[in-house]
This record gives sequence, C-alpha cells and structure tokens, in this order.
Amino acid sequence: MNILFIGDVVGSPGRDMVHEYLPKLKEKYRPHITIINGENAAGGKGITEKIYRGFLEAGAQAVTLGNHTWDNREIFEFIDKAKYMVRPANFPKDNPGKGIVYLKMNQDEVAIISVQGRTFMQPNDCPFTVVDELINEAKERTPIIFVDFHAEATSEKQAMGWYLDGRVTAVVGTHTHVQTADNRILPSGTAYISDVGMTGPYDGILGVEKEAVLKRFLTNLPVRFEVPTTGRSQLNGVLIELDKNSGRAKKIDRIIINEDHPFYS
Ligand SMILES: [Fe+2]
Repeated sequence: MNILFIGDVVGSPGRDMVHEYLPKLKEKYRPHITIINGENAAGGKGITEKIYRGFLEAGAQAVTLGNHTWDNREIFEFIDKAKYMVRPANFPKDNPGKGIVYLKMNQDEVAIISVQGRTFMQPNDCPFTVVDELINEAKERTPIIFVDFHAEATSEKQAMGWYLDGRVTAVVGTHTHVQTADNRILPSGTAYISDVGMTGPYDGILGVEKEAVLKRFLTNLPVRFEVPTTGRSQLNGVLIELDKNSGRAKKIDRIIINEDHPFYS
C-alpha cells in the first residue's frame, strides 16, 4: 500500500499546484491514500470549506491542519461536519473538530492523527501523551497509523519519530515549510521525515512575499505578510510504501516539483 502526503499548501499558488499535479502524481505513483496538509491553504491562514472540498475533489482523502487551524473564521461553521479533516489532537479538550480520522478502504483501515509540537509554539497539551492515547485507540482497529507532527523544532520532531518507532507507520513533520533530507525508515519500521516541505510560492520566504519578510528583518517594524499570487510555484511531498498487514513502512521517498526539479511522468 502507498500513502502520498503533500506538504503544507500555501494560498492560491499552492492550491493551483495541487490541482495541476495531484492527478499526475496519482497516475505515476498510484497511492491508495492521499493526505494534504491544508492549514495555510486560504491565503496562508487557515482553510475554508470550499478549499477543503476542492482538495477532496482533486483526489485527496484527508486534510490535516496545524497552528493556523482557527485563522479563517469559516472553520467554526464546518469543521464538525468535515469528516476527513484532522486538526491537532492536543488542542484544548473542548475545541471543535477531531484529532484522529479513520479511512476505510475495502477491508483495510488507515488511522490519520495530527498532533502539534510545543517547543517555540503555543502551550498545548503534551503531544507525546495525547498521541499515546490515540495510538492505543487506533491499534484496536488497524495497524496502519499515519501521524502528521506539526512542529517547529527538529529536535521535538526527531523525538516524536523515535518515540513512535515501531508503533505507527509514519511520522511526518510539517509546519517549517522547508523539506528536510532525513527521510528514513527507523529501525522498528516507522517512516520518518523532519519536514515534508511546502506547496506554494517558490520564490518567497516560507510561502510569504520575500519583500515583507525582509522588511521585518531589516527594520523590526510591523509588516503585513501576504502570499504572492504571481511567480513560480513548487510542490513538496512524500510517498510512503508500507506493508498493510503489519503496518510497517518499507520506503519513504521525497517528492519535489519546481523549476529546478521538473516533474517527469
Ligand atoms: Fe503551521
């Protein structure tokens, strides 16, 4: 079985890349499941119902979120109806939405979990203890468990990878928007990467107009961060191959599409 994961989709350039390349990636890799991190999909901040539905129509089966989950007000109107949307499970207890989603495919089931880091981020519940509880729940149903760990620090992401090695199929890092080259299968069979990277503007800074970010660094003055709507774009992702009976990963490959790394069908 193959799982395709597309890293943080930023604004309309990111959405356009998904709509252009997801059909091609599906044709090339034939993933059984496609998951998209969509927490920056609405102008860099949050997600709307239309965008969420657009991802499902484009061929994704689930959408994960992160620290920008609540940035677009519309989220409160549809998150509880959005069956395939996963927000960090370690948010405060009564928050809307859910941190685990099960996808049923014929006889198989895949559990998708989102958790968020705490280092240099908001002080949410402990991601390690929360993920433990969810894994225990998921194990009753399926050995195939996918974890999107939305975190800032590579140390916290690596810690999560080692913590879950042998207990889940994959731990993929999101949020920092720069793809890391440390994709590997950990010794007990968990696929790991510190960050999948982002899908959106190629010439900005983490998906934001570079001029604004530079101004902030050079002057310390308040600036408005916008997603550039013109210019070159990129798509980053990973493809995970796994044994569906054991849930163990066999392979994790990085996907990079941009002008310097063209897509070959
Ligand atoms: Fe984020």
